[in-house]
Amino acid sequence: MLLHIPNVLTKAQVQECQDMLLAADWVDGKNTAGHLALHSKNNSQLPQDSDVGKQIGDFILSCLQKMPLFMAAALPNKFYPPMFNCYQHAGNFGNHIDNAIRQSPLIAGQVRTDLSMTLFLSEPDSYDGGELVIEDTYGEKRVKLPAGDLILYPSTSMHRVTSVTKGRRLASFFWLQSLIRSDEQRRILYDLDQSIMALTQQDPQQQELVRLSGVYHNLLRQWSET
Ligand code: NI
Repeated sequence: MLLHIPNVLTKAQVQECQDMLLAADWVDGKNTAGHLALHSKNNSQLPQDSDVGKQIGDFILSCLQKMPLFMAAALPNKFYPPMFNCYQHAGNFGNHIDNAIRQSPLIAGQVRTDLSMTLFLSEPDSYDGGELVIEDTYGEKRVKLPAGDLILYPSTSMHRVTSVTKGRRLASFFWLQSLIRSDEQRRILYDLDQSIMALTQQDPQQQELVRLSGVYHNLLRQWSET
């Protein structure tokens, strides 16, 4: 499931992030590429131990965890700390699938990448190209969102970023390990959650809502891993 989460950051927060990011020191993105991606990755990144990156990353995670739509869709167990990239001067990243298990110097243990996220930090009309293209069994999905918006997609997907031929594309990208490993099961829980929410809005007194919420939690109990 691909899900667009709008307004993770306000325009004022985006502006503040941009100012901080543009004043920071960047390195070649190839530094963190696996050997397969080495030749297809042409961008720059903030070093993982960058103070600016850590500060903005923590802020992004705190905003996301207050969003019911995101929490219902992702059911996060642990996050890989947000990283930041910049594409310009025809920078691009060819087709690839992200590594399954990741380790960050910023957190203990490993994170299995179940879900990938890109938070757009430049307005789409400020650069040409720079689309995140995600391949799915349904075909290709081309994603270029307003600054402050996020796309959530399964980490099993083949994806690429097309050349930025004009302007500059700043973004944050990161992963999470979900309580629910399977995309299909997570989708069922998401649909059930959204239905319960809608029914609650119509009439919070409906007795069957109690049983339906119980079904949600009993499925979560069956399927989750912590
Ligand atoms: Ni990737």
